[in-house]
Amino acid sequence: MFLPLTPGLGRLRGCCQTPEVQTAESKAKAEYLEKVLGSKGHQTYDRIAGYMSPLVAQVPPGAWYLSIIGISPRARGQGLGASLLEGTLAEASARSVPCFLETFTPRNLRFYERHGFARVAEHLEPTTGKPYVVMLRNS
Ligand SMILES: CC(C)(COP(=O)(O)OP(=O)(O)OC[C@H]1O[C@@H](n2cnc3c(N)ncnc32)[C@H](O)[C@@H]1OP(=O)(O)O)[C@@H](O)C(=O)NCCC(=O)NCCS
Repeated sequence: MFLPLTPGLGRLRGCCQTPEVQTAESKAKAEYLEKVLGSKGHQTYDRIAGYMSPLVAQVPPGAWYLSIIGISPRARGQGLGASLLEGTLAEASARSVPCFLETFTPRNLRFYERHGFARVAEHLEPTTGKPYVVMLRNS
């Protein structure tokens, strides 16, 4: 699962953001989630994120957290997801910044592995009762 900052691919823990930018992004994220998930969905999301956030201790400090990515179901499997991801990964490599993410979807593992991510941990998320994998890519 990716935690969205904005629709599209983003970074939750930006290394270069000022506190003002972080506050503005947190507010925008909360408003976006309320709008797309509704109040109950947003609360569930916060419960899930609250469980997952502390469990990334194996991730190096300063790593970028790759947020949500999604391709319209009809357009999947045509390389669009790879194109979206590659831009961010190229930027991370240029800055020598490691990246991490989480996924609940077994099929996504090989997608991320092809882009240099490796599995570093697996946890059971209690709200959904589903396992998810933490993946890390060292630049
Ligand atoms: C994961 C996702 C972003 C990949 O984008 P994409 O444009 O389909 O991916 P690409 O065409 O570049 O690469 C295809 C690979 O994506 C992965 N993939 C995951 N779900 C897929 C699906 N429903 N259809 C096609 N590929 C899928 C597979 O690893 C696939 O490789 P494979 O054919 O060898 O199995 C996209 O499938 C998606 O939006 N899935 C649903 C939302 C989601 O799981 N987001 C990520 C949360 S961690």
